Amino acid sequence: MCGIIGYVGKRSAWEMILGGLKRLEYRGYDSAGIATISDGQLLLSRRVGPIRTLEEETPDGLPGNAGIGHTRWATHGTVTEANCHPHRDSKNRVAVVHNGIVDNVEELRAELVAGGSQFRSETDTEVLAELVGQAVASGKSLPDAVVAALNRVEGTAGIVVIDQARPDRLVAARIGSPVVLGIGDGETWVASDQLALRPYTDRMVVLDDGEIAEVTAHTFKTVDLDKQAHSKRVEEILTPPDATELGDYPHYMLKEIHEQPDAVDRSMRGRLNAAMGSAHLGGLQSQGARLFDVQRVVFFGCGTSLYSAEVGAYLMSSYARVPAHAQDAAELAVQNPIVDSRTLYVAISQSGETADVLAALHEIRVKGGLVAGVTNVVGSSLARDTDFGTYVHAGPEISVCSTKAFTAQVLATELLALQFARMRDMSATDGRAWLRALEQLPEQVAFMLEQAPACRSLAQRFGGSKYTMFVGRGVNVPVAQEGALKLKEICYVPAEGMSGAAMKHGPLALIEPGLPVWALVPPDETRERMLGNLRELKARGAHISAVAIADDKEVAGLVDQVIPLPRHHPAVSPILTVIPLQLYAYYTALKLGYDIDKPRNLAKSVTVM
Ligand code: M6R
Repeated sequence: MCGIIGYVGKRSAWEMILGGLKRLEYRGYDSAGIATISDGQLLLSRRVGPIRTLEEETPDGLPGNAGIGHTRWATHGTVTEANCHPHRDSKNRVAVVHNGIVDNVEELRAELVAGGSQFRSETDTEVLAELVGQAVASGKSLPDAVVAALNRVEGTAGIVVIDQARPDRLVAARIGSPVVLGIGDGETWVASDQLALRPYTDRMVVLDDGEIAEVTAHTFKTVDLDKQAHSKRVEEILTPPDATELGDYPHYMLKEIHEQPDAVDRSMRGRLNAAMGSAHLGGLQSQGARLFDVQRVVFFGCGTSLYSAEVGAYLMSSYARVPAHAQDAAELAVQNPIVDSRTLYVAISQSGETADVLAALHEIRVKGGLVAGVTNVVGSSLARDTDFGTYVHAGPEISVCSTKAFTAQVLATELLALQFARMRDMSATDGRAWLRALEQLPEQVAFMLEQAPACRSLAQRFGGSKYTMFVGRGVNVPVAQEGALKLKEICYVPAEGMSGAAMKHGPLALIEPGLPVWALVPPDETRERMLGNLRELKARGAHISAVAIADDKEVAGLVDQVIPLPRHHPAVSPILTVIPLQLYAYYTALKLGYDIDKPRNLAKSVTVM
């Protein structure tokens, strides 16, 4: 949830870390801090607020060529300067930045207080710092001290530690929370996210779970919690150096919305088999005959990724005729799921680091289940911990509000369902029709983006509404829910997405004359029923914006405004109908003056359960 970065080398650690923190700010932004070592002294600057505040209020920076930094999304303790990272031990000798949670913090703190330690914050990280501080004070080397501390901790920890007595090195560890090393020429970085490193280097080492690394400007060594040495491979960072630049866009969300034609195109590239009217996801292919035995598919994820999971389940059962459903990963993780060998589990996560998704997949794997991963982040925990899977190739998504990851994830589920459908009883003719529809998507998504002015004027008119309803049916129910999530997340507007059928069972009571409703009415098997729902809404005076085919006169006669859809295959409609909802949320947040890319109380990746 938070962002961490460390540096040791020949340049100003402050400058290197500050730059890295700015690129990591999307991971948490309630407070930030940097510690460096200079002349054998540990120096510290921490501030509540964005990185900009830390920078402005430390005008001269901090001296030193080694240091660590952190941008925080609070879990333990309120947002105060005392709770900002880095945290020190009580003798101010070591400093620690930490991403994760110490579950047995109360027990450890009580033990340390009984032994005379004093704490300055409410955080679990300070307990970890104190354990490391006591271990180095007892004569242990810094890596051994970190191993000793981590062996006492239950929970998750991506950490970097510095010791003022050893200014030439950093020690980092990955216990359930990602850590990568950036390898330079006489300088080394450590970060929670490779995006922080990309402008500095294109070489990285990804720590595996349970590894501890000791790095200097020129070397790195890795061991496990039993102090056994591990050898590691240096990998190339494939993300282009400018992939996270904002360019001419005012916000990442708008940039990412507009990247969707390319993202969708990239997600499909090399995966369509035109001759056979099928798709070929490489990871899936690797499972060979095992897939013929699959009798059920369970998709799971959280938030936006849960909605793409729901679309996937609908496509899988409707077109491949394989029983499928989607489940919230957070519930799946804790319900002691019944796992059987003929079910394929599909974990979906943009970041590949969402704690609930990882917990669910670990639970399924420990019970012997087969788990496929769908993620955007190469080398993420999800990619490493699943049996096989596919990258969606949407490119880095920085805005907390997910947009292009949703359409790319839905596309991955389309390919999966198409491949399964062709393996079962879908004919080549029907497969080719679906495939042609997929090929048209980049152009059709671009057409949907051209509807931005209409979405913007709707946002101008209804942006301040006290409630907004989104309705759809069939494969568009999760799209309606996704539209509502966008509005809640960045505009703080109460909103609900639901099946048109569900309205009459309660939510219709909320409708008053003039209240905005978005209706998704593509020309599929749900259209007739949606027309009935539109009549019910119109009779209560709702202002209805419909996403429908431009020449659907019946829809046009029942609603206040139509956002036109191009003609398309019914299976691909979620990738088109969601675009106006993303644009509407963006322009509503713009009108209301909110911080669009960094909504309150949230962070990009939820790495705590
Ligand atoms: O990285 P993930 O896809 O696993 O993240 C899951 C959710 O936290 C995420 O989709 C969240 O709902 C978005 N901020 C919604 O825009």
